[in-house]
Amino acid sequence: MDIICEDFGKLQDGRMAHLYTLRNARGAELRASDYGGHVQALLMPDRNGKFIDVALGYDAIGTYEQEDKYIGALIGRCGNRLARGQVTINGKSYQLDCNDGKNHLHGGFAGFNKRLWQAEPCGEGLRLSYVSPAGEGNYPGELRVTVLYSLSDDNAFGIYYEALSDADTICNLTNHTYFNLAGFASGSVLKQCIQIFADEYTETDQESLPDGKILPVAGTPLDLRRPIPIGEHIDDAYEQLRWAGGYDHNWVVRNEPCGFLDGLRKMAYAESDETGITLTAYTTQPGVQFYSGNYLDGRPLGKNGTAFGRRSGFCLEPQYFPNALAHPAFDQPLLKKGNIWKARTLYAFGNKK
Ligand code: BGC
Repeated sequence: MDIICEDFGKLQDGRMAHLYTLRNARGAELRASDYGGHVQALLMPDRNGKFIDVALGYDAIGTYEQEDKYIGALIGRCGNRLARGQVTINGKSYQLDCNDGKNHLHGGFAGFNKRLWQAEPCGEGLRLSYVSPAGEGNYPGELRVTVLYSLSDDNAFGIYYEALSDADTICNLTNHTYFNLAGFASGSVLKQCIQIFADEYTETDQESLPDGKILPVAGTPLDLRRPIPIGEHIDDAYEQLRWAGGYDHNWVVRNEPCGFLDGLRKMAYAESDETGITLTAYTTQPGVQFYSGNYLDGRPLGKNGTAFGRRSGFCLEPQYFPNALAHPAFDQPLLKKGNIWKARTLYAFGNKK
């Protein structure tokens, strides 16, 4: 794997951000920035060997500083929503930012996606490090985070997360790449197929907060156990979908055996008929948020002046279940002082004929 580093432009505070290009032996590329760990581009071969950029992104660093869609972002400290931003750890309460209506979302107003990380190309890929001071965003404990992005010669984009805190805290790191397997500028993803390896999902209320119920997908439009076009049931008159404007839910990742990949479980599969590009995603995490880009509204403009309209990309965000702290029966995104928090994701690209 070759890694090239370029200047990506100055941040408002004068610091320089960089864009790293990881290129594998087959010519596939991953471009990522040290600003917010954003995945800016992913070039994968279509069925004829032509490289297609399947990740939404922006051309200018200033756009990453402004934007609020989390396009390509590295998310922390806590992915997705926490009701009213209220957290109690060891009997002490913390009020986190309420940056999504009345609730906390993706780490708050200035989460890890708005921080400049330290980047270091290494044998395995690009290593990003960030020390989040105690009290940042009101989260307790100093959190030292390392994230490794890798690109294998068989076109798999791997993400390895590690975090260590000097006090008990919350940790739920994830990635918010929007995929469009027909190319970032190709418009709606509704014709692309999705499959989620899950028999259950966490029911949400009208604010997209899980209410604690884990329900079977069977007999609902959230049954994605067989691959279907994303658009097939997205607009069904089903309360869960209407409230979220489409898919924006957490599925309980099933224990799908995937022998060769130690510790990882298959979470999702997607494909585009147009390009033949397929994506199989694996995680070590208990849940996956499948978000069909319902709130994309064309602003700000993306790469090559592309307006990313509603549902022009989809995200597969592995995670602890959203709002888990309000529901003790869910696995908790808590990190004890001195322990190492670890997670791993693999987005493996392929082709169908
Ligand atoms: C959430 C959406 C939210 C989006 C932000 C997703 O992870 O589930 O509700 O709008 O992130 O772009």
